[in-house]
Amino acid sequence: MDSSSTYILAIESSCDDTSAAVLCNAKVLSNVIANQEIHTAYGGVVPELASRAHQQNIIPVVQQALLKANIDKKQLKAIAFTRGPGLMGSLLVGSSFAKSFSQGLQIPLIAVNHMQAHILAHFIEEKNRQIPEFPFICLTISGGHTQIVKVSDYFNMEVLGETLDDAVGEAFDKSAKILGLPYPGGPLIDKHAQLGNPKAYMFTKPKVGDLEFSFSGLKTGILRFIQKNVKENEHFIEENLNDICASIQHTIVQILMEKLKNAVKQTGIKQIAIAGGVSANSEIRKVLKESESKYGWETFIPKFEYTTDNAAMIGIAGYLAYLEGRFSEVNTSATARLKVTG
Ligand code: KG4
Ligand code: ZN
Repeated sequence: MDSSSTYILAIESSCDDTSAAVLCNAKVLSNVIANQEIHTAYGGVVPELASRAHQQNIIPVVQQALLKANIDKKQLKAIAFTRGPGLMGSLLVGSSFAKSFSQGLQIPLIAVNHMQAHILAHFIEEKNRQIPEFPFICLTISGGHTQIVKVSDYFNMEVLGETLDDAVGEAFDKSAKILGLPYPGGPLIDKHAQLGNPKAYMFTKPKVGDLEFSFSGLKTGILRFIQKNVKENEHFIEENLNDICASIQHTIVQILMEKLKNAVKQTGIKQIAIAGGVSANSEIRKVLKESESKYGWETFIPKFEYTTDNAAMIGIAGYLAYLEGRFSEVNTSATARLKVTG
C-alpha cells in the first residue's frame, strides 16, 4: 500500500439520501447514493420514515462503496460523517454508524459540517477541472439553505447574506407542489422549463437587502396567479405547464444572479462558485457560465453528481480536515442546527 494514499470512508445521512463514498486523498473512488422514494407519496420528507430508511440502507450502501472502490476496510485511515445541519433522526443513524466503525477499526473520526462540505466539493480532484483560489464567493443553494458565503480558507467561511424565510430549493419544491408535480419538484420544474418560454409570465421579485433573499412572497404570488387562472380555465396548468415552469425558474435565477452581482460589487471578488442541490439547475449553470464573458467573472460549477446531497463532498471535507489534524472525539454529537461558520 502506498503510504501517500489516504483512504477515507465518508457517510452522509442528513436528510433523505443515504450515501457513502471512499476517497483516496482528494480523488473520489466511489460515491454510492440510495435515494428514498418513500417520501414522494407524502409530497415531502417525513423525518420518521427517513431515519428508518437510513437504518435499512446504511450497511449495504457502505459495503457497496468499499466494493466499488476496491478497498478493504483495513486500508481506511479515517471515517468522516455529517454532523449537521439536518434532520436529527437521520443524522443519528450516520453518526452512530461512523462512530462504531471508527472504534472497531481504531481509526480517527472526523465530524463534517454539511454546509461546508457542499462548498468544499469544489476541491475534489478531477481531470481538467480548475479549483477556486481563496478568497472566493460561493452561492450555496439547497433545499434547506440559501446563502452567499465568502470562503477565505477551507474552514474559514463567512456568511455575507442569506434567506430571511424559505430556501431557494423550497421555492422550487413548493412551486412544483402548487402545479401538482411530485416531490422533489426542483428537477421537474427544470425539465419542463427547458421546453417553455421564460418570459411568458411575470412574477414580482422580493424587495430585501442587497445580499438577502426572500422566497415566501414569490411562492404566495405563484399560488395566487395559479388559483386565479385555474378559476378561469380549469386546464390552465396542463396547457401552459412548460411556460409556467420556465417563468418561475427564470424569476428565481434572476433573483440569484442579482444577489451575486451585489456580492461582487461589495467584495470585489470575482471568483464565483455555486454549491448545493439547486446548483444542478440547468439555467443557473448556463447563466453563470455566460457571466464569465459578460462580467469577467471566473466561475466554478460543481460536477452534476456533487450538487445534491452526496458522501463524496463529506469525504473531501474529511480529507482536508485530516490534513489539518482536525479529528473529532467519539462523544461529538450530531446537531440539527449548525452554521456554515462552524
Ligand atoms: O443539497 P440538497 O440535495 O439537499 C439539501 O441539503 O437541502 O438540495 C435539494 C434541493 C431540493 O429542493 C431540490 O428540488 C433541488 O435541490 N434541486 C433542484 C434541481 N435539482 C435539485 N432545483 C432546481 N433545479 C434542479 N435541477
Ligand atoms: Zn445538502
